[in-house]
Amino acid sequence: MTLPFVKGEVLSEGKAKTMWTTNDEDFLIMEFRDDVTAFDGVKKAQLADKGYVNNQINAYLMQELAAAGIDTCFHSTVAENSSMVYKLDMLPIECVVRNITAGSICSRLGIEAGQFLEQPIFEFFLKDDERHDPFINDSHILTFEWADENEIHLMKELTLGVNDVLTRLFDEAGLHLVDFKLEFGWFESEVEGEDDPLSVFMLGDEFTPDGCRLWDKGTLESFDKDRFRKDEGDVVEFYAQVASRLGITL
Ligand code: C5P
Repeated sequence: MTLPFVKGEVLSEGKAKTMWTTNDEDFLIMEFRDDVTAFDGVKKAQLADKGYVNNQINAYLMQELAAAGIDTCFHSTVAENSSMVYKLDMLPIECVVRNITAGSICSRLGIEAGQFLEQPIFEFFLKDDERHDPFINDSHILTFEWADENEIHLMKELTLGVNDVLTRLFDEAGLHLVDFKLEFGWFESEVEGEDDPLSVFMLGDEFTPDGCRLWDKGTLESFDKDRFRKDEGDVVEFYAQVASRLGITL
């Protein structure tokens, strides 16, 4: 990385995060804002300190994943609410793993919520807000060339690998990891003296209570964005409890 890094311009603004360019073309700044949205952005609010808490949780979990041998875009935290990440070419696909039934699988398939699954369910969705991120399968992905066979294999393997590592980690923190969403992409960079660029398939996402469901193992109370979706209140307080249970000092 070119040091000292300089924050450049806004590259993209999502619902709760802003990506900034830097003076190094291989790196971006991922800023966790205090915004929270639900139902495709229809419900919106600002929650003080959410960006700070999410940045700390994400940094901790990404370091745990790296320690378990999973490549992620996370490089380092650079401010209270921001981290340096590798710049990836992202695939337009969301990967969801479910360990307990909740959310869209219940409404989509008429399944009762709260069923503990013997094997995790893996699902693909197309990243397309206008169409409400429709459910897709391998055949759609290959036909419309959103990804190839190898990338499909890598997305499944890595997402299930993340599930193994984080299910254990949250379990030790007294929480069930119910489900979560991940996105992936390629990091490509020129290597001095080499003809071919370095090319690594990586997790290109964050992992925070905004993008997963976490239930207390005893009471099954939500410690995630469902608190906001369902108006249960104390959203950031519960996110901070997730951090504290993981042993993160805020
Ligand atoms: O809505 P659904 O039940 O399919 O979501 C499954 C999991 O993926 C939830 O933890 C949800 O927060 C997360 N998700 C997400 N971003 C999306 C869709 C789902 O973080 N666009």
